[in-house]
Amino acid sequence: MDNQKKIALIAGRDNWHTRDFPEEGIPVVTMSDGPHGLRVEKEAGIGFPQSVPAVAWPVLSALGCSFDTELIHEIGTALAEECIAEGVDVLLAPGINHKRNPLCGRNFEYFSEDPVVSGELGSAYVNGLQENGIGASLKHYAANSREEGRLVTDSIVEERTLHEIYLRAFDTVIHKAKPWTMMMAYNMLNGIYCCENEFLMNHARKEGFDGVFVSDWGGVSDPAASLIHGLNLIMPGDHHADAKVQEALEKGILSQDKLDESVRCISDLAKKVSHHSPKPYDIQKHLDLALKAAEESIVLLKNDGVLPVKKEQSFLLVGNLLKMSNHGGNGSSKVEAISVDHVTDIFDKRKINYAFYSGKSIEKTIRLAKEKDIVIIGAGYYENEESEGYDRKNMRLSSHQNRLIRELCNNHDHVIVVIQTGSPVEMPWKEDAEGILYMNLTGCRGGSALTNILFGMTCPSARLAETFPQKLEDVPSYAHFSDNPHQMEYREGIFTGYRYYDTFDIPVNYGFGHGLSYTHFSYSDLKTGDYSVSFTLKNDGDYDARNTVCLYIGFKDSSITRAAKELKAFQSVYLKKGEEKRIVFNLDESMFQYYDIQKHDWMIEEGMYQLMIGGAVNEIFLQTEMYHEGIQNPYSSIQKEFYEFSEGKLHIEKASFEKMLGRQIPQFKNNIDADSSLKDLELHTFRFLAKVLSKKKELLPGVRLSTIQETPLRQILMADQKITWETIDGMVELLNGMPVKGIKKVLKSLKSSRL
Ligand code: BGC
Repeated sequence: MDNQKKIALIAGRDNWHTRDFPEEGIPVVTMSDGPHGLRVEKEAGIGFPQSVPAVAWPVLSALGCSFDTELIHEIGTALAEECIAEGVDVLLAPGINHKRNPLCGRNFEYFSEDPVVSGELGSAYVNGLQENGIGASLKHYAANSREEGRLVTDSIVEERTLHEIYLRAFDTVIHKAKPWTMMMAYNMLNGIYCCENEFLMNHARKEGFDGVFVSDWGGVSDPAASLIHGLNLIMPGDHHADAKVQEALEKGILSQDKLDESVRCISDLAKKVSHHSPKPYDIQKHLDLALKAAEESIVLLKNDGVLPVKKEQSFLLVGNLLKMSNHGGNGSSKVEAISVDHVTDIFDKRKINYAFYSGKSIEKTIRLAKEKDIVIIGAGYYENEESEGYDRKNMRLSSHQNRLIRELCNNHDHVIVVIQTGSPVEMPWKEDAEGILYMNLTGCRGGSALTNILFGMTCPSARLAETFPQKLEDVPSYAHFSDNPHQMEYREGIFTGYRYYDTFDIPVNYGFGHGLSYTHFSYSDLKTGDYSVSFTLKNDGDYDARNTVCLYIGFKDSSITRAAKELKAFQSVYLKKGEEKRIVFNLDESMFQYYDIQKHDWMIEEGMYQLMIGGAVNEIFLQTEMYHEGIQNPYSSIQKEFYEFSEGKLHIEKASFEKMLGRQIPQFKNNIDADSSLKDLELHTFRFLAKVLSKKKELLPGVRLSTIQETPLRQILMADQKITWETIDGMVELLNGMPVKGIKKVLKSLKSSRL
């Protein structure tokens, strides 16, 4: 294969395909989004054009609450069948980023705030797909935890935190499922774009990844630099990366070996994906599985006796979300659902005695409520309130929803609140509601699943895969999440999610792992065996049910800074009423390790560890201790003297964070280059240009103005195939005060553009 073809191969043909060279035996690879259903676009277009109707599965934040690896594996298999039906070879999923802050617009696309949960469920998902000949794309690698400025922002993460929290789930999926591709995140990690981040890509290779590193769509800032540092495939189609790569090859900056390696990876992938001939799948079977998945995802947060309700009772259903469910969030993961069960439709079908009211007038709602035995209110976010491309500004329901719930609770004794969001919300009325269900965004069968749980046909079994803090200010990354569009300092380090709330005794609304049931489970007879721990779990209540049991490990006397407990393993177990089972957790060394930044490796500290069996992190049923051999003088850069805990908050000053990092945080330099966004340009004299361009928002239907303003110049490449990297270079020169040179370059590039 000659170099021209090789260079052509390393950039896609268009939005969803790689280039193919049949004469060289390299077929095309077709890709589509994920993760909770297929988004096969009907026609090409910018933004998120209409897609082919598909099964809308519960979003990953919902599936995370199932803690059920078998279920996720089954969904992976079902998605593979859907890919085969649609001619898709690689599904751009799953997203396993760590949830650092509830405001991240894309949290609904991720499993958990715990890397063990994300890693195990992510592995099951990838195995389900790949065992059926469909490739996965593990994304977004790595430390991609905010949408604001996501295309250029620098995630600044200390080394131990990076390994223990932000890379851990990726490592697990690489070990357990060997994904065929990994998608490099848009952002920078410690000053280097992920697509050019040799540390990141070498790390994955060392862990055993042997597939294709693909850029997130439009995430390449410099094609040659990306390839030199390990990226294999530039997506979407970037016809004009060829010239840049050719130049780098001629200058010897890009070696022939590096180019050949990318070609080998892409051609291996193209041969590996099965290129099945399209075969229809059993839609009903998939809808049944989507129902089971939704049932396993809905978390019963509170029950003062109102649940399960009875068919003889009368109901008032309040809130448009019960009539028109929000089945998923917005952005590239949005599925055009083939059907959606809305709660009111299911109540109609089952001939339940109910009335519906939107809740618009609080007085009217209270009047109607008084005529019914039970009030069920659906509250939450509407589709566009959680999205790729922008973050939430707060974690509150609308003030109307909060007032309505409070007033209803003040005026009726039996109020059940159903929350439809993909991330935690504040609950100022938590003490007043008799029942609270976290429905999440449970896909096309959510309404049936909710009804089954409400009426006790299914026993709730889900547990929160993410803490519900009392208020946003309690979140450990609160002060350093949206304070700077260009940099994100991960100052809280390893104290993220429950690792923070549990260690520092911060009161929360509902802790990680919280989830009630209609039955009762007892835990007894804890024994440690040969590197294992076992106990008896008995369902001694009145319902057949599933339960997730968790193994947490702590090390009270450790000489390094640690979280009080960390989840190390979990099992989802189904027991009929009266049934009991011996549960065994096999231990392995990784469960005792911490990441040592002096040795740049995982180490075990010698000492006595606490092994705890629980459900929620703050609900430990059984506990024992185990001595583990290891090193005696461990070292961690996260040291108590670097942080201060006062007034209920963790404070880490910039200087202390820099000590943990072992370097100074670089000043953001507002140069004008291809990575400058319209917002950045506004800081310069070319304010007028930024204004003109940002007014063109109708160019991208459905995309917010703020997202357009945060978009770097280089992304214009994605808007029109006539625009080349040379055009961008010319624009940069123009903006840097070289109008003649710049304009000449722009015109020349447009003229010579091959399309
Ligand atoms: C998203 C990816 C997605 C890709 C293709 C990007 O905007 O970050 O998750 O797979 O688009 O739609």
